[in-house]
Amino acid sequence: MHLVFETPRLWLRRFTLADTDLLLRLNSDPEVLKYLHEPLLHDEEHAQQILRDNILPQYFKNLGRWAVFTRGDNQFIGWCGLKHRQDLNEIDLGYRFLPIAWGKGYATEASQETLHHGFHQLSLPLITGRAHIHNIASIKVLQKIGMQYKGEGIVDNCPVHTYTAVNPFN
Ligand SMILES: CC(C)(COP(=O)(O)OP(=O)(O)OC[C@H]1O[C@@H](n2cnc3c(N)ncnc32)[C@H](O)[C@@H]1OP(=O)(O)O)[C@@H](O)C(=O)NCCC(=O)NCCS
Repeated sequence: MHLVFETPRLWLRRFTLADTDLLLRLNSDPEVLKYLHEPLLHDEEHAQQILRDNILPQYFKNLGRWAVFTRGDNQFIGWCGLKHRQDLNEIDLGYRFLPIAWGKGYATEASQETLHHGFHQLSLPLITGRAHIHNIASIKVLQKIGMQYKGEGIVDNCPVHTYTAVNPFN
């Protein structure tokens, strides 16, 4: 198992090809994908393809979406992490949790430590976060972890608010 980091209530590890069930649970829930420009997942084969083509390749750069578990009971609750978006030439902060885990501060806790990891361990100069303009919970997460508002625009055919954070260790 490749542990990435722990927080007071969570631990994050890399996904593997054996995690199709976890990804399927998350991406087959219409509530989870409500503000995201992605199709619902229906089968493990498709989940495997996303792991193989989208998620695992990011780990070669030490970036990636990492599986998030609660400490103590080791429940899978979602993912959080950093992705290099070549098309936008940026490092994107993302998070996605199962509805049972919403409203407990987990996204804020995981994202805060992800920023720290990106700046302190990976020496990234800048991290960008985007959220659909109606995705209030996600916008609040970006604000609560101290990212700076940069404006509104269209990305992936969606109206989004953009936030950035600059490496404080540079
Ligand atoms: C966005 C998401 C990650 C937030 O996760 P979370 O663990 O519930 O977030 P937190 O508990 O850290 O809460 C963040 C803030 O949003 C608020 N919030 C949570 N749900 C909310 C809602 N539906 N409407 C308004 N505010 C909401 C919380 O109260 C908190 O603010 P507060 O501290 O001022 O009270 C979660 O809703 C999710 O996974 N959604 C589906 C995937 C998604 O949209 N990802 C983001 C893509 S940009």
